[in-house]
Amino acid sequence: MKINEIKNEFLNKNAQPLRSHKIFNNWNIVTKGWYSTFLSSDLKIGDKKSILLNGHKLVIYRAETGKVFCLDAFCPHMGVDLSLGKVMGENLRCFFHHWKFNSQGKCIDIPCGEEPPKNLNLNSYAVKEKYNLIWVYPETHTDEEVLEVPALEGLSDKEICVKIDDIFYRKCHYHITMINGIDPQHLSTVHKINIDMDINIDNSKSNHIDICLRGNFTTDTFKEKMGSLLLGKSYSYSMKYADGCLASLTMMKDAKLFNRIKMPELHMLFSYSQLEYGKVAVRPIYVNSKSKGLLGPFKNWFKLNMTKAFFKMLQGEDGQIYDNIRFNTEAFLKMDRPVVKYIAYINRLEPSIWSQEKIELG
Ligand code: FES
Ligand SMILES: [Fe+2]
Repeated sequence: MKINEIKNEFLNKNAQPLRSHKIFNNWNIVTKGWYSTFLSSDLKIGDKKSILLNGHKLVIYRAETGKVFCLDAFCPHMGVDLSLGKVMGENLRCFFHHWKFNSQGKCIDIPCGEEPPKNLNLNSYAVKEKYNLIWVYPETHTDEEVLEVPALEGLSDKEICVKIDDIFYRKCHYHITMINGIDPQHLSTVHKINIDMDINIDNSKSNHIDICLRGNFTTDTFKEKMGSLLLGKSYSYSMKYADGCLASLTMMKDAKLFNRIKMPELHMLFSYSQLEYGKVAVRPIYVNSKSKGLLGPFKNWFKLNMTKAFFKMLQGEDGQIYDNIRFNTEAFLKMDRPVVKYIAYINRLEPSIWSQEKIELG
């Protein structure tokens, strides 16, 4: 292997010891949480597709009833990928020897007439459709009722419009890219935005963390002057992290154009998953309240594209950091307190059965 192909985690280990964590930045652990897969519109009735998600091969299919189900992909008989099979009602039949499985992964029919072996293990997973995406949770199908894909702040009871962006890839673990929104120092050094921040972390729930940042625009740079002129003196945004694999961002809270006209809040979500060691997939999703009336389609288009433009601006400035980092947690300052709290929150999350390593939770 060439030296520049070695993953950063393996470099400089004796000279610069790396602190490892039981869950944070640990590629062997997949936490319980909602992971996005295909677009809902790409899975028609009777379609079945396999996907590699967090080191796990899954088959996802849309039954004749319209419901979507997800099972482990390899047939428990001789291991053929079940996405080659056929959807029959709410069941899936393997292509090879026609064993038929129901949506809970139970074998219900073997054409040669023998009984299926005892303890046949084909996991099924909870599935939800939201934001025009199919989401999968690494827990059994029967838990589906108690679990929800997180709603966005202020939008849970509203009609929404959605724009799904293309997946992009990063070389560092997504626990690290998620730090982007709560690292106060880099807002000024990288983005040239000097905001006096007030950070509230509500970590009362174990699997979610809410972070609110507000402050006044300083007016030293051109960007800050423009921001202050257009949107007023103060600035506020909030972030919510769910299960260590989903981040939502609400921007332009209480923003008024020229201090008069209330501007719409802009919302986006980032859904993260591991593709392979050293490669993560990030799916940006832009979501807004749906405007109605004659100008509704134009307003919706404008809000979604403005959200995308904001994100692209920040992404352009940050991208190179997250592809060239060997993150270490050895030298934090007081100012890095939000990051320290966030790492503690990640380390409290629960590993799922997709983890490669079993850990004891203390
Ligand atoms: S491999 Fe699936 S039925 Fe034999
Ligand atoms: Fe950033």
